[in-house]
Amino acid sequence: MSLKIGKTTLENGIILAPMAGITDRVFRLLCAEQGAEYVVSEMISAKALCYKDVKTASYAKILDTDPPTALQIFGSEPDVMAEAAFMLERGSYKACSSTKAPEAIDINMGCPMKKIVANGEGSALMKKPELVYDIVRAVSSAVSVPVTVKIRAGWDKSTMNAVEVALAAQEGGAALVTVHGRTREQLYKPPVNYELISDVKRALSIPVVANGGIFSAEDAVEVMRNTGCDGIMIGQAAQGNPFIFSQIKAAFEGRYLDTPSDKQILDMARKHLKMLCLEKGEHTGVLEARKHTAWYVKGMRGSAQLRMMVNSATTLKGLMSLIDEFEASFAADTSGR
Ligand SMILES: Cc1cc2nc3c(=O)[nH]c(=O)nc-3n(C[C@H](O)[C@H](O)[C@H](O)COP(=O)(O)O)c2cc1C
Repeated sequence: MSLKIGKTTLENGIILAPMAGITDRVFRLLCAEQGAEYVVSEMISAKALCYKDVKTASYAKILDTDPPTALQIFGSEPDVMAEAAFMLERGSYKACSSTKAPEAIDINMGCPMKKIVANGEGSALMKKPELVYDIVRAVSSAVSVPVTVKIRAGWDKSTMNAVEVALAAQEGGAALVTVHGRTREQLYKPPVNYELISDVKRALSIPVVANGGIFSAEDAVEVMRNTGCDGIMIGQAAQGNPFIFSQIKAAFEGRYLDTPSDKQILDMARKHLKMLCLEKGEHTGVLEARKHTAWYVKGMRGSAQLRMMVNSATTLKGLMSLIDEFEASFAADTSGR
């Protein structure tokens, strides 16, 4: 079964979720190398983009060689969202040195952060299906690329209205809906309501992607089978673990792929840190690399100490030495057994 989004066909429907502060260009490339067939940017403020904020525009950078990438916007005013989408498709991507337009514009209707929902944005939109329709309609009228929407199960357990909101999005012209099967009230806590995701899939004629709580290849196969969805989207399980995508790809193709060795993980960490520094400059690269390094080494012997030390690293060389020393101590430990 394949999933079509605009002119792109995904063989297996394996998608990297948008994650603010995480799914920048570098991380998207690494996940795509491992098997993510489609990736979504960090959320981008429609309003800030319209004000031509340079940092905001930098989130939208995509190059010709990048994997199929959707740029995600958030906001609540249909005209502002439409203008931002138009800029991303035709204008501001040049300003931020992109060399191609996004595959799709994705609209954020799931962000639970207080400062976002206080403005009526993100998951607050789940409370207003009519506004959902207006936003999707305005955005899809403004761009020629597909418009996709990412929603939650509902606002809280008494208002699980994902089907209603998804229908409003479809009516407004959405080409695909992703359902994160938790309510805003749950934030990122279990359980994920896969039955509700199935209900959305059955109610819609456009493709539906299931998201939430997929932490292994087995989970991915099960969620795809149980929800009947056209694709699955992976968020937290990819943190410090782009390998999850190769494992899921293998499982979807009927193969089994072992978990990566510590050496493979540390090699990935080194590659990630170098790419971050190249893309964002050493200062920002190292600061951002700290959290990724901590995720990569999580669960390895002696990693708590490394995590502490990494937080005071200020140069790429320093960070690399810490990882090299950590690996060497690891090897020494193993050989002594
Ligand atoms: C740190 C973090 C940042 C996130 N940022 C975004 C975002 O910018 N846009 C969005 O639609 N969802 C965002 N999400 C939600 C994820 O895309 C995803 O829906 C959620 O994590 C559930 O999937 P998972 O259980 O596989 O992690 C974020 C989640 C996390 C943990």
